[in-house]
Amino acid sequence: MTIWTRLAEAGKAAEKTRILDRFAENPDRFAELSVSLGDMTLDFSKTSLDAAALALLVELAAEKGVPERRDVMFTGGRINVTEGRAVLHTALRNRGSKPVLVDGVDVMPEVNEVLDRMGAFAAGIRSGQIAAVDGKPFTDVVNIGIGGSDLGPVMATLALAPYHDGPRLHYVSNVDGADIHDKLAGLDPARTLVIVASKTFTTIETMTNARTAKAWMEAVLGAEAGKHFAAVSTALDKTAAFGIDPARVFGFWDWVGGRYSVWGAIGLPVMIAIGPDDFGDFLAGANEMDRHFLEAPLAENMPVLLGLVGIWHRNVMGYQTRAILPYDQRLSRLPAYLQQLDMESNGKSVTLDGSPVTTATGPVVWGEPGTNGQHAFYQLIHQGTNIVPCEFMVAAVGHEPALEHHHLLLIANCLAQSEALMKGRSLAEAEKTVKDPALAPHKVFPGNRPSTTLVYTELDPRTLGRIVALYEHRVFVEGVIWGINSYDQWGVELGKELATALLPLVESGSGFGGKDGSTAGLLQTITDLRR
Ligand code: F6P
Repeated sequence: MTIWTRLAEAGKAAEKTRILDRFAENPDRFAELSVSLGDMTLDFSKTSLDAAALALLVELAAEKGVPERRDVMFTGGRINVTEGRAVLHTALRNRGSKPVLVDGVDVMPEVNEVLDRMGAFAAGIRSGQIAAVDGKPFTDVVNIGIGGSDLGPVMATLALAPYHDGPRLHYVSNVDGADIHDKLAGLDPARTLVIVASKTFTTIETMTNARTAKAWMEAVLGAEAGKHFAAVSTALDKTAAFGIDPARVFGFWDWVGGRYSVWGAIGLPVMIAIGPDDFGDFLAGANEMDRHFLEAPLAENMPVLLGLVGIWHRNVMGYQTRAILPYDQRLSRLPAYLQQLDMESNGKSVTLDGSPVTTATGPVVWGEPGTNGQHAFYQLIHQGTNIVPCEFMVAAVGHEPALEHHHLLLIANCLAQSEALMKGRSLAEAEKTVKDPALAPHKVFPGNRPSTTLVYTELDPRTLGRIVALYEHRVFVEGVIWGINSYDQWGVELGKELATALLPLVESGSGFGGKDGSTAGLLQTITDLRR
């Protein structure tokens, strides 16, 4: 019997016992189905897993070679097989600077050199020593980038707002002119630094926005506009062609995927916002999770266990989505960040050798911060016909001591939601809450709905680093078990190619003949509307 068959049987058996009843059966359930790293605890006891099913999942991870693949990743093996690249975002936060070899060459001196240059630049901008052309300090920084060159820095900047003591930050990502228009409105080019962040320096959205920003800057600073630009890229020839002084270009390497790049030069705006020391703590937190991932046995390893919970829900229970529900307003962009991390990595249909997958792969990832989501989509989570595994997270302590009563309410709400999802409310209980018995069915909650909860002391740079690295490694674990390449993203290419081909048609308002009926009809309708 294959391990998948045994897991399917465990899944059927699991459905016979309600999650809540499992706590009565086993008073040690919380201790057995949770894992801690320092002050951070992941509770997965509110799922239908039990010790036997978990042991099977751990066996699956071992059988699929998770530890071996992990070691290959950390030591520079070219696990991104379709692009022939190593996957070494972990080197960017390798705080001890232990050598990391790619093709026999230690990359750490280069990593540290870029980090040091970033630190000097960020410190210079923050102190005003690196100043605008008129010698005054920059008050605003605009980061132009998209995907991994935007989501990580945006997410981290919002998350670390209490540590933000540098210039104001603004992020432009969308090719929609509304984005750059609204972000630049009210900014003074004479006081603004623009960072163009693009791994490839070819992304159409970023290059279009960068040119618009350059024209905006040149209108005020003329030939000196270049002094208000910096760039982050692996394509140093292209940054030079754009006219950015090489001293203001911060590189990274093809072994850092875009969605894994916030730890290096793509994190420059975050470093400018919070300062090199706090950015160092962010890296140190991620490094702490890396070391745990490398060293802890599979059954006590937080990213492995989070990955296995994901496998249980996706492949054994057949759930199609997972909701990321941070009870932390400052993590409001974490769900969007994790959408790219998870769905661009594991939204795949072929295995490493190109053959079709035989299991379901990445789920749809979505979410919003609590408590706002409670007043929007939680209705479906509680009473809808889809079961959505929910991944809650909450800090024990808020950053606003004067508003502690807010934070206690936040915690109570977070715990109440996972409790409600698990306990539900029976018809008999519902009947007690209504005068009109006809209303009772509407007040029934099926319950037995799974969730995990991540708790930590407070959302500081170190903890943010740990959370993001936890999710990165979770994606890795699931990708290894599914036998897919989590580090390419061919699925984004076709749309880009078609957009390039469509642009002349949109511009000219003609030549729709070769297009399918819908696309031709839409082109004609839009052309007519634009007249
Ligand atoms: O849309 C695909 C993608 O390549 C992402 O993986 C990446 O994060 C984003 O585009 C931006 O790419 P770049 O940093 O090269 O501009």
